[in-house]
Amino acid sequence: MGAKIIVVTNQKGGCGKTTLTMNLAGVLGSKKKTLIIDGDSQGSATRWASSASDNKPFPTAIMGLANTGDKVHREIKKYAADYDYIFVDCPPAIDNNFTASALLVADLALVPVIPSPTDLWAAIGIQKVISNVMDLNENLQARLVANMCQNNTSISKEALTLIEEFEFPKVTTDIYQRTAYRQAAAFGGTVADLDNIKAHDEINQLISEILKLLNKRTKKN
Ligand SMILES: Nc1ncnc2c1ncn2[C@@H]1O[C@H](COP(=O)(O)OP(=O)(O)O)[C@@H](O)[C@H]1O
Ligand SMILES: [Mg+2]
Repeated sequence: MGAKIIVVTNQKGGCGKTTLTMNLAGVLGSKKKTLIIDGDSQGSATRWASSASDNKPFPTAIMGLANTGDKVHREIKKYAADYDYIFVDCPPAIDNNFTASALLVADLALVPVIPSPTDLWAAIGIQKVISNVMDLNENLQARLVANMCQNNTSISKEALTLIEEFEFPKVTTDIYQRTAYRQAAAFGGTVADLDNIKAHDEINQLISEILKLLNKRTKKN
């Protein structure tokens, strides 16, 4: 068996890859053996965890593997037996093959997108990378996650139409733009440490949705 591997990717920077990785893995990590792999040479995930205070360290183990390039799948496999879940925070670029390599051993690709036309257009390229790897890795599923949704407006019709044109469906849980996500990064924790119930709820809801997807696939195999 071994860990379920979740790769958070989009060639676009600033769409919330690191924010989602840290909150999903951080919350799940307080219950299940979880590892975060920081695949971005900018090291934002590693810095995030390092910002935690000594008396409340970030709940989940993290290691930086950005420089493994197209061999990251070999490294990930070495940890699979020791964890229940491994999250990979990918770099924004897709041209160094790190992302394709991580996807080779992944069970789920999560693609955070800001639901605006320009951001959605920029996300089209990652589809091809994921579907190419799907030919080699039959366990791989992929889902879009709408991030930084605005509280006062639901996802625009234009954005929804674009989302429907993607090869992969969107998860039901949408993540809203909330200061809690920025605060969590600043103090090196997750939204579970803050009294923003809505942020904590949506992360919990997204976790259950992800676990359901991963379990469904296990039963079929
Ligand atoms: N749901 C959200 N609500 C508010 N701010 C967010 C949210 N998601 C991400 N951010 C902020 O947007 C910026 C980019 O997010 P980040 O996770 O670093 O993106 P990426 O890793 O894809 O480059 C950061 O400043 C982060 O705090
Ligand atoms: Mg990042």
